[in-house]
Amino acid sequence: MGTSAETMPDRRTLESAIVSASRAPSLHNSQPWKWLLGSDELSLFSDNDRILPATDAYGRQMVLSCGAALHHLQIALAAHRWASVIERIPHPPGRQCLATIRFHPADEASDSELRLAAAIRLRRTERLPMTAPANPQQTLADLRDLTERSGVHLSRIGEHGRPALDDMSRRIMGLRRGDQAYQAELRWWTGQAVYPGGIPPDALPTARQSVAADREFPAGSATSDTTADQDRAAIFLLSTDTDSRLDWLRCGEALSAVLLTCTDRGLATCPVTHLTELNAFRTFLGDLTDGIGVPQVLVRVGFRTHPEAATATSRRPLSEILFREHPVDPLADTQ
Ligand SMILES: Cc1cc2nc3c(=O)[nH]c(=O)nc-3n(C[C@H](O)[C@H](O)[C@H](O)COP(=O)(O)O)c2cc1C
Repeated sequence: MGTSAETMPDRRTLESAIVSASRAPSLHNSQPWKWLLGSDELSLFSDNDRILPATDAYGRQMVLSCGAALHHLQIALAAHRWASVIERIPHPPGRQCLATIRFHPADEASDSELRLAAAIRLRRTERLPMTAPANPQQTLADLRDLTERSGVHLSRIGEHGRPALDDMSRRIMGLRRGDQAYQAELRWWTGQAVYPGGIPPDALPTARQSVAADREFPAGSATSDTTADQDRAAIFLLSTDTDSRLDWLRCGEALSAVLLTCTDRGLATCPVTHLTELNAFRTFLGDLTDGIGVPQVLVRVGFRTHPEAATATSRRPLSEILFREHPVDPLADTQ
């Protein structure tokens, strides 16, 4: 057993990794995570005050979002030459602790870890129409290798399935238009008053450029030269064998791996989940792919049709998401 100096990154490294972890995507940028730092481990909790009950009745997307943050953390620490040993869902069901993480020094960071770490600050959710990735089948094969490591399956909704998908999306959004509680959550998280969270208008497309396969948001100000019917993004589906909190957490980690890998390859991405929120439609979605298991989240992948990436959406400050078992001595050496 090493000393705590050998088993814990120093305070600055940990704080910087948690700031990187908060760059993870989350449902409506709700950032539903909290970190608790102990003397020899870090724990990840869901922040249940930030659940969206009308949109995400079971907290599935809350846990998916936390899984994405957990993967971001591992990558950020790996780039600092720290390996993470993770126990997922460590407590009996009902508790909010999703993972405990212990650390040991690694000899070096791999090239792919360094590239994914660099992708963390470049990744954005792209909701405008996209052009097709160069070779969608090869992209699928590469990404599938990654997700299978987390026990998560990846399949593609091919061109033949696209009209049915768009039709299903329109039907769901039609149902959601009459759902007052869902609409109130959407307005809240896309209003400008929720800083530092939520989705700003410049991350949302104008009505003319809203893509049928994506969720219907209030019209924003993001534009490119394309129209929605020119969208040629490849659409991938992440699914799991069962539908437990552990599956959701692992699926969030796989989602993060997919998004960062695509970003590193110069591809734009958009997670899409309104199609997996209502159980009746989830079954139908599984039928549209050659995939197996329970559909969790779709991802649109393609090339941006405008030169500039959107500005980064805001994140909560460290003081709101990191808590310590032992308060910090302000006079202590921060290394
Ligand atoms: C579980 C989950 C569900 C999401 N669902 C959608 C969605 O249905 N449509 C969409 O455009 N973005 C979706 N997003 C993306 C978030 O809105 C986005 O991550 C958040 O606004 C932060 O912006 P950023 O990804 O650009 O940093 C989802 C993200 C996660 C993790």
